[in-house]
Amino acid sequence: MDGPELWKQKRNGWIPDLSVIGMGRVGLVTALSFAAKGHRVLGVDLDYRMVAKLRKGQAPFFEPGLHELLTKALDSGNLEVSEAYDERLLPARIHFICVDTGSADGAAIDLTNLRSALRDLSPYVRPDAVVALRSTVPPGTTEAARRLLSKNGVGPSVTCNPEFLREGSAVEDFFNPDRVVLGVTTEEAREALLALYLDFPGTKMVCHPRTAEMVKYTSNALLAVNISFVNEIAGICEKVGADVRIVSRALRLDHRFGPHAYVEAGLGFGGSCLPKDIAALALVAKLVQQPTRLLVAARQANDAQRQGVIDRLLDRLGDLDGRVIGIIGLAFKPNTDDVRNAPGLEIAQGLIRLGAWVKVYDPLDEHETFRHPPYEVARDIYEAADGADALVLANSWDGLGGVQMERIRSLMRRPLVIDGRNVFDPRAMREKGFEYIALGVGDERQPLPYGSFDKTFAEPGELILPRSSWDGLDSMDKDGFAA
Ligand SMILES: NC(=O)c1ccc[n+]([C@@H]2O[C@H](COP(=O)([O-])OP(=O)(O)OC[C@H]3O[C@@H](n4cnc5c(N)ncnc54)[C@H](O)[C@@H]3O)[C@@H](O)[C@H]2O)c1
Repeated sequence: MDGPELWKQKRNGWIPDLSVIGMGRVGLVTALSFAAKGHRVLGVDLDYRMVAKLRKGQAPFFEPGLHELLTKALDSGNLEVSEAYDERLLPARIHFICVDTGSADGAAIDLTNLRSALRDLSPYVRPDAVVALRSTVPPGTTEAARRLLSKNGVGPSVTCNPEFLREGSAVEDFFNPDRVVLGVTTEEAREALLALYLDFPGTKMVCHPRTAEMVKYTSNALLAVNISFVNEIAGICEKVGADVRIVSRALRLDHRFGPHAYVEAGLGFGGSCLPKDIAALALVAKLVQQPTRLLVAARQANDAQRQGVIDRLLDRLGDLDGRVIGIIGLAFKPNTDDVRNAPGLEIAQGLIRLGAWVKVYDPLDEHETFRHPPYEVARDIYEAADGADALVLANSWDGLGGVQMERIRSLMRRPLVIDGRNVFDPRAMREKGFEYIALGVGDERQPLPYGSFDKTFAEPGELILPRSSWDGLDSMDKDGFAA
């Protein structure tokens, strides 16, 4: 009797057709979504506390719709979870690898977990199975994984099937992908994955694994560049009395960019993916001697957005030592409790270094992700505002518009608000007595800092920028390589 038969006998016929290795933000959504589609999924994660929680039906992090999906998967019997690799994995025809591939500081590639996951999985993968890398990996990783899993030239088909879900709408995105990218080298893998995704919408793209790996990096890099670009535009808007919110809306109405274009000004990108993936792509580019000026600039511009908030606070409040600053919204974007590389958290850390007393509030605090000293965790937005010299709005959420701003105003020591999400109407906030700074929203009543063009029109002529105006660009690292 071979492994699967033995296992089948032992487990009264519960046979997984899929396995998911790494049940984090990508893996759990992948496992639950395929379970909802009727597959029997065995999820493996070394984090035994998280596995115990999952068995009890508790989602380890917040994501809209995830809890319901978990309940459904457990009730239907389509999901089993395990903290160990063992023979229960043997019958699965497709194994999805969803482990984290970032370094500890979230800045570059770290394939340690991927390598150990593949090694641990290796004894339980049948030669006719498909291993699909869903983790984001540099070009060449899928081929290396295939070699690692092969014995004497025989082994499973290893493919790259990158995930594009957005935290905050991960479940929705999983069921409605814009495209499904399949980086495959065998006909068996191609057929198996096309059959698996048959009833998913979105274009199915079949390509070489290296191209699939590049698709994922390129997608995240472009999102990052877009965000940094619009944040630079926001800086200009603010100074010339224009409104970046309208500029962004106009871009979205342009079919060349589209209604979902990532062109919202704010505190910059965060999360586990964009910072890590542009750093990783810059590193890959460096290895092949290809300049990446835009990636480097996107990262620098992103850091400047965080520093910009601290500079504004220094500008308004002077010394920040002993100042009380409330940070509202710590997660890196709405509808998630993920604080990896979150702007609010990075700004809080910068302020603490300057001696400020930081109070934080986030509505998803119930998940305890935010309970990292040394800042004070407020129970609500009013507690965060109480006695504050300034509030920084670093994230938004449904219901934020219903907050009693007059009450906030009366609680604050100084009614200074920096709105990093452009949630409120600047005019209404100023009428309520706030010193309100909206990123990228200037005051069109103010004279332009460089004077008017009246003279130019009176005496027609060219507006010539002195050569020195380009100094900023010239001073950029010539090769554009990441340091
Ligand atoms: N978070 C996103 O929005 C997103 C979107 C698309 C792609 N990705 C990519 O997907 C991958 C996973 O990201 P994530 O956000 O889900 O990470 P995560 O940190 O939330 O989850 C990773 C999980 O893998 C587990 N793990 C680590 N090593 C393991 C091993 N050897 N065996 C079994 N389990 C192991 C960890 O315990 C953890 O639960 C990364 O490569 C990431 O770049 C993430």
